[in-house]
Amino acid sequence: MQPSMSSTSRILSPEEANLERCARHLEAGELVGVPTETVYGLAGDASREDAVRKIFTVKGRPLIDPLIVHVPSLEAARKYAALNPAAEALAARFWPGPLTLVLPKKAIIPDIVTAGLPSVAIRCPAHPVFRALLERLDFPVAAPSANPFSYISPTTAAHVDLHLGHKIAATLDGGECQHGVESTIVDLRTPETPAILRYGPISPESISETLGSPVRLPAKTNQRSAQAAPGTLEKHYSPRTRVTLLEHGSAHDRIFELLSGNQTALILNRRPDRDHPTGAVYWLSEDGNLAEQAKHLYSLLHRLDAMDFKEIFIEAAVDEGLGRSINDRLKRAAAK
Ligand code: TXA
Ligand code: MG
Repeated sequence: MQPSMSSTSRILSPEEANLERCARHLEAGELVGVPTETVYGLAGDASREDAVRKIFTVKGRPLIDPLIVHVPSLEAARKYAALNPAAEALAARFWPGPLTLVLPKKAIIPDIVTAGLPSVAIRCPAHPVFRALLERLDFPVAAPSANPFSYISPTTAAHVDLHLGHKIAATLDGGECQHGVESTIVDLRTPETPAILRYGPISPESISETLGSPVRLPAKTNQRSAQAAPGTLEKHYSPRTRVTLLEHGSAHDRIFELLSGNQTALILNRRPDRDHPTGAVYWLSEDGNLAEQAKHLYSLLHRLDAMDFKEIFIEAAVDEGLGRSINDRLKRAAAK
């Protein structure tokens, strides 16, 4: 299908006039798709209940799932959350960047943003286009990933436009996202016991090193425990096509066997050394580089989900460093 004229014109290049247009949309309580260094966000005025309600409606997200509030600076963060010394230390090292801090919230943030919780998740993003937009606004921006609830997160403006474009004012184009996985979330409500709520581009080790104390890791995803962060819902980041996860290192020797069904696709960590059928074997990096794998994962899933495969096999990443963030998303994408 050819994209219609109206579909392409909903994506705006990041020039001054368009930043201004997007700022006006947000000021009017409308929603805009925005680029971040992790994934694209669905942005609305976090200080307005009506705008935030639209975010939940457009995404089809349950109101019990709290949103991340985005600010242009540490100074701005202090207006909306009660920062403690641990938060100050992490912000000084990692902001602007792919780190979200969960902290006691200030009254100025409406309850709908935090799903009634007394804490708020707050992040100062690094993407220059989003930053230029944030700096034009005198309110904070609530922005979940700009995908329909439980679908694959978007890493290009086109992904946002395809699934949500008809429901929002515009999408600001900031190119392909640098990291391709969502921010690391750290719970600092009680700073003596910091906890990772979601794996992301910043490793637990670097959080722990900065704080000078150990950090708790997320519970294993197959545990049906109470949800600390709803990004931890078991089924999440999922394409419509069935996804089956294969152990790291187990796929390269079985390529022909795995693809014998003819309607299956296979995603490997790196380019295969041996012969393989064309058209059904894909790889996320040339040589197993984890940053490359993370960056390409969602966009490859978007691409394959638009094709006619009955099943997608994905090789898990090596379970270290950024590989843990990738595997966390893969387990959820494969959850039935
Ligand atoms: O990289 C990112 O974080 C992207 C970009 C757009 O900034 N945003 C993102 O938002 O991934 P979303 O809504 O898809 O995921 C937000 C996560 C959810 O798991 C949510 O439960 C958690 O943040 N969260 C938000 N507020 C929280 C709170 N007060 N306490 C605990 N978790 C919270
Ligand atoms: Mg999300």
